[in-house]
Amino acid sequence: MSGPNTAFDPKQVAELGAAAVANMVTSALAAVAAATDLGLLKDVRLAHAGDRSPLALANRDIGALPPAAKAEVGKRVGAARATVKAAIDARQVELERARDEFALAEEFIDVTLPAGRNPLGARHPLTTVMERICDVFIAMGYDIAEGPEAEAEWVNFDALNVPPDHPARTMQDTFYVTSPESGVVLRTQTSPIQIRAMLERSLPIYVVAPGRVYRTDALDATHTPVFHQVEGLAVDEGLTMGDLRGTLDHFAQEMFGPGIVTRLRPSYFPFTEPSAELDVQCFVCRGASIDNPNAPCRTCVSEGWIEWGGCGMVNPRVLQSVGIDASKYRGFAFGMGIERTLMFRNGVTDMRDMVEGDVRFSLAFGLES
Ligand code: DAH
Repeated sequence: MSGPNTAFDPKQVAELGAAAVANMVTSALAAVAAATDLGLLKDVRLAHAGDRSPLALANRDIGALPPAAKAEVGKRVGAARATVKAAIDARQVELERARDEFALAEEFIDVTLPAGRNPLGARHPLTTVMERICDVFIAMGYDIAEGPEAEAEWVNFDALNVPPDHPARTMQDTFYVTSPESGVVLRTQTSPIQIRAMLERSLPIYVVAPGRVYRTDALDATHTPVFHQVEGLAVDEGLTMGDLRGTLDHFAQEMFGPGIVTRLRPSYFPFTEPSAELDVQCFVCRGASIDNPNAPCRTCVSEGWIEWGGCGMVNPRVLQSVGIDASKYRGFAFGMGIERTLMFRNGVTDMRDMVEGDVRFSLAFGLES
């Protein structure tokens, strides 16, 4: 900054002359017009209206002018600064409006559009039915038991009193892991879990065992080479067929509704003696469709009963094969197919739907957890 200039010399203050100030304004206005966004305009404001801008410096120099010149130059510089500031402010408003309009157009959200739909999965009904069954038995004090899917032939057959020449053992029915000599099969039933439970646990035993089983069936509407069963086993002192029956009736009611009862028909299984086929009363017609052509029932094909599984009192030979004193302990056992249960319970007509993995099949059962 110059010192006091008592003897006013127009040359020395040439930058405060009308032409010089007008130039400053012209170049400032050109810069304002060229600022196409708020960032650039900020730079222009600093360069042309900031503390170090030519007009601000000119303004400071006014103080050094002789009083006679101060008023005129002061007016000129003041007007110039006002012009530049007004131009910058106006441009600021313009650019802010443009920015906001752009943002409104660009960031517009149509709240009436359908929301993004992430496909929901669903638990497979075979899983939820097996869990339901486990819950019913856990509530009665049972444990859940497990066994391997590749099972010793001895456990899957011999210990269960299935004779060596039983047709179920043939390669037409059973998957041998390597050859029939290997002694290892893909378990054909969950009954071997009975054997493992009796070998591994201490008495009394109350277990339920859901699991995957294998048979050499081709896949069609009513067969699948991989399916699921649930096995039940109780071994205790003094158990009777009445205990079996009461347990099954309770199970049926938990699965199919209050009042639904079971029926046992004489049958044969090597691992139970006596053995029975287990029927459950039709939970749709409750028997009303029997001999009643006016009210046919599709669920039980008007038979009033639905075949559900097999059961019986554990054959003493099985108890002996695992070293349990058959003169002291008695057991009951039962087993049923989960796919079959789902078919008549939920009206699934084709087993292939259960294995194909289409989520729409599972979703139809709801999101039961
Ligand atoms: N394991 C038999 C099957 O696959 C079903 C069965 C019948 C299981 C009677 C049992 C039972 O525990 O007592 O056909």
